[in-house]
Amino acid sequence: MTATRIDGKAFAARLRERVGEHALAFAEAAGRKPGLAVVLVGDDPASEVYVGSKGKATVAANMLSFKYRLPADASEEQLIKLVDDLNQDDRVDGILVQLPLPGHLDEQSIIAAISPDKDVDGFHVINAGRLSVGQSGFVPCTPLGCMMLLTDRLGDLSGLEAVVIGRSNIVGKPMAQLLLDANATVTVAHSRTKDLASVVKRADIVVAAVGRPQMITKDWLKDGATVIDVGINRLPPEPGKEKGKLVGDVAYDEASEVASAITPVPGGVGPMTIAVLLRNTAVAAYRNAGLKVPEGL
Ligand code: GUN
Repeated sequence: MTATRIDGKAFAARLRERVGEHALAFAEAAGRKPGLAVVLVGDDPASEVYVGSKGKATVAANMLSFKYRLPADASEEQLIKLVDDLNQDDRVDGILVQLPLPGHLDEQSIIAAISPDKDVDGFHVINAGRLSVGQSGFVPCTPLGCMMLLTDRLGDLSGLEAVVIGRSNIVGKPMAQLLLDANATVTVAHSRTKDLASVVKRADIVVAAVGRPQMITKDWLKDGATVIDVGINRLPPEPGKEKGKLVGDVAYDEASEVASAITPVPGGVGPMTIAVLLRNTAVAAYRNAGLKVPEGL
């Protein structure tokens, strides 16, 4: 058996298209476009690339993109002042402070300064709390994107065994919560889990978010499992090459022999994150303007 390749890139493109249509409808109703502010502190090259592509995708989805840069040595007060100004700015529906921040800044304090109604990353404790008690708020983009791919592929997840590998606040924990809300039986495994391979073997759904290249091999998987690979890892370059290959946490080729469906890296979960960020921003715009959030957004 060869697994179906779950095409996150195509799914994300369709989602961005749909969000763009809703953004136009919002502009008609509210007299302004939805706006997303992205804050970059310092000059980490990878973050710079992410922020650039977020800006382009925002404009392509008929929204306003606001970019703010602070120097690497910016103080916590400076950053919180900027966040506070954005909280007050009616053109801004969503605020994203690009992580990781330089070491002297406390990420939790900065996230806490973002208005929960503009926290399109879903990182604020208020939104984490809302997710855990089943109230509507904002859900972190990567796990929500994984969930969209899973429900598109499997429909009803009731009673399925799901194993999430990784327990971060950004992916593992919210992912587990979403799967639980969808009535899956959820196990969260992590670096201290004993006999991880046998835990994974039970899973109808595997969500891998560990950051270890090709750790999950064919022999770990149940026949017919659906595999969502959140990992993005760069292998050491081959001789004569400048950059190593990008791979996930799952050994894709061999896992494809056992799984029924699997996301590739790149082109699986990765493109979903920005698409869901735009979706969350459009939702924020409707809510912040006191308008009903359209079905299907
Ligand atoms: N850095 C890498 N991914 C993300 C993300 O989704 N949100 C934020 N704020 N920073 C990131």
